[in-house]
Amino acid sequence: MKKCILDLTVRAVEKVSEKYVLIRLTDDKPLPDMRPGQFVEVRADGTADTYLRRPISINFVDRDANELWLLVAMIGDGTRAIGCVSAGCKLNCVLPLGNGFTMPHTQAERVLLVGGGVGVAPLLYMGAEMRRMGCEPVFLLGARRAADLLMIGEFAKYGRVCVTTEDGSAGEKGFVTNHSVLTAERFDRIATCGPKPMMMAVARYAHGEGIECEVSLENTMACGIGACLCCVEKTVAGNLCVCKAGPVFNIKKLLWQL
Ligand SMILES: Cc1cc2nc3c(=O)[nH]c(=O)nc-3n(C[C@H](O)[C@H](O)[C@H](O)COP(=O)(O)OP(=O)(O)OC[C@H]3O[C@@H](n4cnc5c(N)ncnc54)[C@H](O)[C@@H]3O)c2cc1C
Ligand code: FES
Repeated sequence: MKKCILDLTVRAVEKVSEKYVLIRLTDDKPLPDMRPGQFVEVRADGTADTYLRRPISINFVDRDANELWLLVAMIGDGTRAIGCVSAGCKLNCVLPLGNGFTMPHTQAERVLLVGGGVGVAPLLYMGAEMRRMGCEPVFLLGARRAADLLMIGEFAKYGRVCVTTEDGSAGEKGFVTNHSVLTAERFDRIATCGPKPMMMAVARYAHGEGIECEVSLENTMACGIGACLCCVEKTVAGNLCVCKAGPVFNIKKLLWQL
């Protein structure tokens, strides 16, 4: 897939919660094709300490409005600089990067999309694309507390949403792997993105049940194009750059102890 460097225009910035913003970007020309699970390297202007671009998942692509959405957790200098943009500003982006999730082969395939924290971001576009194909995705989204749940209304447009919170303030109490949907229903495939302990727990469940499972790794990145080797992950095929061979991997390819 051809990569582009574009000065995208910020159409709107919405505060999603205390530290999360949703940035809606557009361009004069049609945006390039992008697959769910791919990401964008965003230049973080406005601070001398943010020389390197920051990887941000493709949260959603609205083809009719020619918009790309990025959900940004403002946790450090880079993401704060990105999250501080306002409508009319430009964001310099390299896109689309990485491989993306495997899409269902048939409409009947039952796919569970499991997300935690800002890791829910790529699952919205994945669910929307699945819906467009005629599939019915089920989302399983976890957070510490109700206030940390992100974009639930958007997810609900494309599939059934199951929720867990650690304090029980929304959905079922506990971690995503404790949710009753995992015992009540059978899935053909799981796609997950979020904190590594959560993805490992999901991978362990999928491995135990013999369910195909893909995880989207968030190893720290710099170049985003396989040149600097800073994002390497050990796999059955040797050391691979997560930015180029991933970020999405089938768990069978990783050397995780499941
Ligand atoms: C493929 C990919 C997709 C991503 N998608 C998104 C997204 O959609 N939205 C979003 O907000 N963030 C996303 N991230 C994470 C984001 O890139 C990092 O949070 C960001 O690079 C941190 O930069 P900073 O300058 O704000 O923070 P820094 O000052 O660099 O770091 C602040 C703190 O965050 C920790 N940190 C830095 N990078 C990561 C990381 N990759 N994972 C976990 N902790 C980290 C640091 O150790 C430090 O404690 C993604 C990362 C990858 C690799
Ligand atoms: S970020 Fe440079 S090789 Fe992956």
